[in-house]
Order: sequence, then C-alpha cells, then structure tokens
Amino acid sequence: MSAPNRAASARSARRPAASPPLRRFETRWIQVDPSASRISFRDAVRAGLRNAPKTLPSRFFYDETGSRLFEEICQLPEYYLTRAESEILEAVAPDLAREMPDIRMLVELGSGSAVKTEALLQAFDTDARPLSYAPIDVSRSALEEGVERLELNHPRLEILPAIAEYESGLAQIHALGLGPKLLLWLGSSIGNLERSAAIAFLAHLRATMHEEDRLLIGIDLRKDRGALERAYDDSRGVTARFNLNLLTRINRELAGNFDLDQFRHRVHYDEPSGSVQSFIESRRAQRVSLRELGFEVAFEAGERIHTEDSHKYSVEEIDALTSEAGLGLVRRDLDQARRFTLNLFRPRV
Ligand code: AVJ
Repeated sequence: MSAPNRAASARSARRPAASPPLRRFETRWIQVDPSASRISFRDAVRAGLRNAPKTLPSRFFYDETGSRLFEEICQLPEYYLTRAESEILEAVAPDLAREMPDIRMLVELGSGSAVKTEALLQAFDTDARPLSYAPIDVSRSALEEGVERLELNHPRLEILPAIAEYESGLAQIHALGLGPKLLLWLGSSIGNLERSAAIAFLAHLRATMHEEDRLLIGIDLRKDRGALERAYDDSRGVTARFNLNLLTRINRELAGNFDLDQFRHRVHYDEPSGSVQSFIESRRAQRVSLRELGFEVAFEAGERIHTEDSHKYSVEEIDALTSEAGLGLVRRDLDQARRFTLNLFRPRV
C-alpha cells in the first residue's frame, strides 16, 4: 500500500491546490503477492557462492541503488544500447501506432522508470483511443518515479503498475482481461537469458497472447569486441559500481562482510556464444562471512563470481530464436548505425 500513498503525497506536495490533475483515471497499483517471486535473494546467494565456478544471478542487480546506477549506465557515452533503441522508437512510434489501431493496452516487462517508452505512449495515447499502460518492474522506486512523470505528461492514460517479476506481473495484468495488448520487452533484456531460456520465455509470452496481441522486443546486435567490452566496462566506472553493488546488497541484506576494495569488475566478450560476460573478481585470497546464511566463502586471488551474461544476436539468430518460439515477424527496424534492432511480432498459428 505504501507505494501509491508515497507517490500520491509527493505529487500533491508539489502541485498547487488550485490546479487539480485533469486525470481521466486514477493510477491503480496491481497487487502481486511477493511470495510469487521465483527464488529469494538468500537462496540464490547461498547456492551461487557454493557453486564452482561461483555465480550470482543478474536479476538481483536491481535494488534501489542498482536501479539508479542502471539508469546512469543508460546515459553513458559507451552504453550505446539505450540511445540506439530510443532513436528507433522515436523514428517508428507513429508508424507503429498507425499500424496497430486496435491496441488498447501497452504492457511493459522491466519498464524501470519508462523513459524510453514515452515515445510509444506519445504516439498511442491519442484522443481517439483510450489507452492503458501496465509497467512491470521489480524496482518500486523506479516505477514510482515513472508513474509520477507519466501522470503529469499523460492525463488521459490509465496507468496500472505492478511491482513484480515478469511472470507474476503478467499473470495479474492478463487477469484484468483488457482488450488487445502490445507487450513491450525493451532494452535487450532478453540478453540476460541463455539462448534456450530465451526461447522458452518467448514461447511462454507467445502462449499468453491472443491473435490480435503483438510483442515488441529490443535486441542488441553482435558487433566488434571493442565496442561491446567498452559498453560494459565504462571509463567512469559506473558499470563497475553497478556490478559490485551486488556485494553491497549481500552485506546489507545477508549480514555479509565483503570489502568492496578487495574486488574488481571484469568483462569478457565470448564471441562464439555472442555473450558479454561480467564478473566480480577477487583481488587476493580472502574469506568472507555471510552471517545471515551462517557460512563463510573462500576466494582465491583472481577467482571470479560470474554475475551477468548479455547475449548479442545476429539478425539471422533473432529470426531462428523467435520462430522457434512461435512468433512471426511483422517488422524490424534498426538505428542508423545498425547497432540495435526493434522487432515486432505476432503470434504465429
Ligand atoms: C538491462 C540486461 C539489458 O545487459 O545490457 C548494463 C544490463 N549490465 N550494463 C545489459 C547491464 C551492465 C543490461 N540489461
């Protein structure tokens, strides 16, 4: 309950009483049972740090600090993904809106604060079409910030945010049964999944879609190693802080005693698999205790924790992946520099 209340009081504090919001709908926060989340942070950390080699899942990056650092990454000169995708969205949003006149709802997986999505909302949210927007994200703070901005910029829009992981959020929103939907999965978030898991998740999305629903996916392309490794190891060290924030989160939530100065951020592009791999590397031999989990972890000098894969695909690989999942390509757009793709799919029969 605190999410809507906090957002509401922040708004009323800023807006003078004389100009009440001309909203058609009140924002309705979709309640999702937090126990629906797949596996808890503590179980993931316990399992991952006992693995050989050690791993931590990238979806735990996005606590409040992590979400803020990620938004900072999106502004970095080296992190071309966000700018490339925004360029495409801004160029094609009017076409997309025109080509999908029946869409009444945009549902976004991992919206964050939905900055890029505004190009689409701008184009779809017209007088002629009552539109709902359901952003799904695990970060309450990012969602609240986005909702607050959208309420100001889009008074006609019905906003149905869900603080949730993809599957449980989607299930709740589907249960509302609101007309033809455009599902958005932007930012090349698909890259965090292994190829086979990506197909499985796309097939799951496909299974939730009705004939008139559409799916819009942003996917980063394979490119030269230098550009990729710079994108994930920026000169200002923001991505390093983003990665190492996992250790801060373990320290805070699981009473760990990681000394962040004794670890460093590492990135390697594995060309055969097309995956940019991120690691946290121990600068020396050391032991770390996790009081909340009741165990100690030993690191050798140079030992790594694998924290993220960011898969890149060729256009041919995108076609293979999506057709295996039962999706049919409607249109594909690239940025001018041909670094990134925006792909629109329909369920294939
Ligand atoms: C949000 C998963 C798409 O892999 O490019 C950015 C996350 N990690 N810099 C990506 C990320 C390091 C990002 N995704």
